[in-house]
Amino acid sequence: MGSDSRVESVLDELTTEEKLRLVRGRADPTGRATGFLAGVDRVGVPPLRFVDGPLGVRDGKATAFPASIAVGATWDPSLARRLGAALATEARAKGHRVLLAPGLNVIRVPTCGRNFEYLSEDPRLSARVGAAYVEGVESNGVGATAKHFVANNQERNRDEIDVVADERTLREVYLPAFRAAVEAGASAVMTAYNRVNGTYMSEHAPLLRVLREEWGFTGITVSDWWGTHDGVAAAKGGLDVEMPGVSPLDQFAPRSRLLGALSTVGLSERLGIDPPLYWRPVDRFLADDGQPDPYPSAFFGDRLRRALESGAVDESVLDEKVRRVLGLYERLGAIGRSDDPPVRSVDRDAHHDLAREGAIRGTVLLANDGVLPLGGAETLAVVGPNADEAKIGGGGSSEVTPTRATSPLVGLRERAPEVTFERGTERVPNPSMFDTPWDTLARRVRSGGDIGSAVTAAAAADVAVVVVQDAATESEDRDGMALPGDQDRLVAAVADANPRTVVVCRSSGPVEMPWLDAVGAVVQTWYPGQTDGEALAAVLYGEDPGGRLPVTFGRRFADYPVAGESRYPGVDGRAQYDEGVFVGYRGVDRDGVDPLFPFGHGRSYATFVYDDLAVEHASDGLEVSVTVENCSNRAGREVVQAYVSPPEGPVDRPERELGGFAPVALEAGERRRVDLSVPRRTLARYDEADGWTVDAGTYAVAVGRSSRDHRATGRCDLGESPNA
Ligand code: GLC
Repeated sequence: MGSDSRVESVLDELTTEEKLRLVRGRADPTGRATGFLAGVDRVGVPPLRFVDGPLGVRDGKATAFPASIAVGATWDPSLARRLGAALATEARAKGHRVLLAPGLNVIRVPTCGRNFEYLSEDPRLSARVGAAYVEGVESNGVGATAKHFVANNQERNRDEIDVVADERTLREVYLPAFRAAVEAGASAVMTAYNRVNGTYMSEHAPLLRVLREEWGFTGITVSDWWGTHDGVAAAKGGLDVEMPGVSPLDQFAPRSRLLGALSTVGLSERLGIDPPLYWRPVDRFLADDGQPDPYPSAFFGDRLRRALESGAVDESVLDEKVRRVLGLYERLGAIGRSDDPPVRSVDRDAHHDLAREGAIRGTVLLANDGVLPLGGAETLAVVGPNADEAKIGGGGSSEVTPTRATSPLVGLRERAPEVTFERGTERVPNPSMFDTPWDTLARRVRSGGDIGSAVTAAAAADVAVVVVQDAATESEDRDGMALPGDQDRLVAAVADANPRTVVVCRSSGPVEMPWLDAVGAVVQTWYPGQTDGEALAAVLYGEDPGGRLPVTFGRRFADYPVAGESRYPGVDGRAQYDEGVFVGYRGVDRDGVDPLFPFGHGRSYATFVYDDLAVEHASDGLEVSVTVENCSNRAGREVVQAYVSPPEGPVDRPERELGGFAPVALEAGERRRVDLSVPRRTLARYDEADGWTVDAGTYAVAVGRSSRDHRATGRCDLGESPNA
């Protein structure tokens, strides 16, 4: 029987009550899934489990991969694909069939609490890396979920904020990564908490219609957790599945209550029992202003049932949802199968190695006066409030319990002949959505250090390595771009004592660096995950990382185009996206700002020379090719970037936009011809009357190492051309 006919035949057998079971989540009896569809056993539709998240599987122990922004910093879609595939294997091995990842929101606000879960400030970098990640997840029989659709670019008041954005801005900046994910075959799209132009995304018929009618999306739309507000509006607006579908109270099944109590007293972990996901103090989670109210849940339960009975919602609307849910089951080969048998065991060593590869490749060498790479004979003073802990991720639904972890201190102790350690300042708390009161207390109690001891240790060592970090979490934005606590003073004091100071910055995004001119090198490792110290040691001792900034590092918040309360965090509950398409470097370039480090920036241990650039008009845009030579005596990694400047036209456009890119690894002395394609769609602008439009005229192309470091320029004339 064909898959469509199997779906139709199952649909025909279902009662209305059974259909409702397929469009709203329930509590997972095992307490392990993030979202759970109970299925309809009578017709062979088994339960379906959904699980977080972008950095690893949030169910028991799992590989803690580098944060998504580090994956974005690799500029390597093939690596993202492998990471997605590995994540899917781990999810499926635990019985989950839909992964609630990737996060594809544009990094618009440099202090957004979830920037570590997103890929870039640039829609094309996000689109290409995100689409590859989706392909990886889907390749292993797990559904990928593109989230959070759309314009969820801040955590502050995230469940109520109304994003005011014009059509062109949405089309050119905020939608492209989701379109790419759909075209890459994503099984699900998660609607965001926020509103766009006055309507909640969970009931935003016009934008949900774009998914279906313009992009041909056949998967399911699923709400963010407790992100539904009106059952009828959501049903008619195009939401397919309400999650979690239950309030925390419903979760309080006896087993959950017992396990939850054990969790509170910190026993569950020690007993090796994974407490249920939603027992944990949701109320604490609700403490912040950016949280949904979880109690008026089950909009697709009684409310939708009554709407069907009254005729307010036609049964055909419900059938359409169920058809898509059954289509998902069919895609996963799950119809007619009892609970999916866990697939082969996970090769945790191989995943650990892949996580380390990702952490290395996502590392960005921001500055280096020659102190790096280390030779191996230097004595080290490792300084930093949390340098004895791996930085696994940020707080919130993306949290992962790693299978193992290496701190910077341990990783460097493996390599250096002698290492001393000083915290230097109070520990920086790692915020967690699941902190029990005891955890919070414990985090505060653990002693800090003092700057004097750190200075003494630094002065006595050949090289000082200062590990600093921020503390980002879902549900709230960072309160500024400065490093928390006394870390800036610590770095300055250490650098004053030892000019051979290397700063390792483990942050969720851009941070201020008032000590930059006083240090020898700065290595940006983001949230590197469980292989933190291993990857750091590899890079400090000479492995060329190859990472490039996926986000502009401004000197201060005011450097960014979103500066201004009406834009962020918004006034009277409305955030004006009136910077339009001038997000990130597009706005920084327009405003003539001199950033700390520009979009695309990253140093290498090698040296590259570009020549012989060619720019040709191709059937689908431009074909750009350039010869790159590694003229150093060591292997190196480069990311060749092509930025396009359009001809003068009827509307204001960014000076230059990323058109294409390619990561390359070159041996010492190796020359290679690198080809980049710049698709027509990336040359186009969106016109509300005419749609996608490629203006005729001359397109300038700058190829180089960042949005500001151009090594070769070319141009191409495009005559009158049809819409993109
Ligand atoms: C959270 C997040 C979403 C996550 C979901 C389930 O609130 O916004 O990214 O997948 O709920 O935990």
